[in-house]
Amino acid sequence: MFALRIIILITLIVPLNYKLCSCQCARAEYEIHKQCCPMCAPGNRVHWHCTDDTSTTCVPCPSLTFTDEPNGLTECFPCTVCDASRGLRVNKVCTRSSDTVCGPLERFYCIEKKKDCCTLAVQHSECSPGQYIKQAGTGSTDTVCAECTGDTYSNGSFSSCLPHTKCEALGFTETNPGTHSSDTKCGNPSTAVAIVASSIIVALIIILVIFFFIFKHIRKKKQSKSSGKKETGNVFCENESSKVVGSREIVEPSETEEHVLTTYE
Ligand SMILES: *[C@@H]1O[C@H](CO)[C@@H](O)[C@H](O)[C@H]1NC(C)=O
Repeated sequence: MFALRIIILITLIVPLNYKLCSCQCARAEYEIHKQCCPMCAPGNRVHWHCTDDTSTTCVPCPSLTFTDEPNGLTECFPCTVCDASRGLRVNKVCTRSSDTVCGPLERFYCIEKKKDCCTLAVQHSECSPGQYIKQAGTGSTDTVCAECTGDTYSNGSFSSCLPHTKCEALGFTETNPGTHSSDTKCGNPSTAVAIVASSIIVALIIILVIFFFIFKHIRKKKQSKSSGKKETGNVFCENESSKVVGSREIVEPSETEEHVLTTYE
């Protein structure tokens, strides 16, 4: 009976003792070579373990490495790299005491996470023609599409379905009926509009023709007026001819010259 008691005690106490042994060190200490050493602060690592008469020697983590907890490590952890081929970009850069935080790229959303950190993201889906964007995608949710109904359409990029254009209301005729993915196509103006438009064009042509004839008539009149002037004697021409020759016989060639001048006027 006594022996049994001892066996029970041993089976109970030995593992308990063993457990106590491994938990010997205080919370901010780590065990090395059966000795408890003070831990290094986050952002640092152990350079030299403590000895009987020296404390732990810590050094800061080199660049692109980190430790985010009090530790007894002799190496810091390498910073995570945000992989664009996994749809990721840097949200927060790595520091000595914190790892990189990756987030989804623009127009991507996260589909895999590890401790609030995105590890894989994919592109938002696009709505098809005939659908509208009911809810735009976010960093953690995909786009939500919904179908157009009734007399409306969307090419897949609208945030709501638009009503079809009413051609008749605009004075046009409908050449193609609208679908859920495309608007109505309006064509040639209705007959009433066509008549108005064509009569305006005809009127414009008539006015132009009239103006042309009036212009021609004025020019003709001017021409005959200036040749009349010649007969009575143009001061400029008379002066010139008298300057050059000083004779009235040479007036005729200068008259032809005047002709040329007026036609170019
Ligand atoms: C839809 O229409 C808008 C504006 O009308 C245009 O900018 C866009 O490129 C179109 N999208 C598609 C997918 O055709």
